[in-house]
Amino acid sequence: MNEIDEAHKRVLGLQLPTDPRWVNMAEMDLGEILTDHAYCEQKAATSCITLIQQYPEKTDMVEELAPIVTEEWGHFRMVLAELRKRNLPLGKQRKDEYVNALMKFQKKDGAWEDRLVERLLVFALIEARSCERFRLLSLYISDDELKEFYYKLMVAEAAHYKMFIRLAKKYWPEEKVMNRWQEYLDFEEEMLKTLEVRGDRMH
Ligand SMILES: [Fe+2]
Ligand SMILES: [Fe+2]
Repeated sequence: MNEIDEAHKRVLGLQLPTDPRWVNMAEMDLGEILTDHAYCEQKAATSCITLIQQYPEKTDMVEELAPIVTEEWGHFRMVLAELRKRNLPLGKQRKDEYVNALMKFQKKDGAWEDRLVERLLVFALIEARSCERFRLLSLYISDDELKEFYYKLMVAEAAHYKMFIRLAKKYWPEEKVMNRWQEYLDFEEEMLKTLEVRGDRMH
């Protein structure tokens, strides 16, 4: 494995690289993968709105998340534009097994602030994995326009991953955050091994 292929671990902490067959599978039906991707962006925007609604007293977090909502919705619109360029329709939203599994792993019995940290870590992980997959698309997809498109999104999602980790450290001591983060990384590695590699799913 070369240095570039190890970036997922060094930069993002992810324990398992994406199956190398995935990009080829994804590009076989661009309408499917772009549809799934569009809803990932929609959910990213919606999740930030929900956090703002549920934790309005966390002023710093609200200030940081408000522009992210706009950015994620912008990503949704960018994916829509890619579909339109190719005369592909936006399909229906799919069941998101990856995100559902992460949600289940969250501890839901802690104090209000503990539950916030759990959610911030789940969002950080979704951003990290998205970033890793966008990077693969930016390198290996054959469509040159999409290469550039996914490169831009990879950079944006990397910044979001860092932001969610930084926010978590506002509410828990750093060591506690990093210990729990490692548990999430380990869980994600095992969970990914059980998920079928599908070209119509971003995760
Ligand atoms: Fe995004
Ligand atoms: Fe994001």
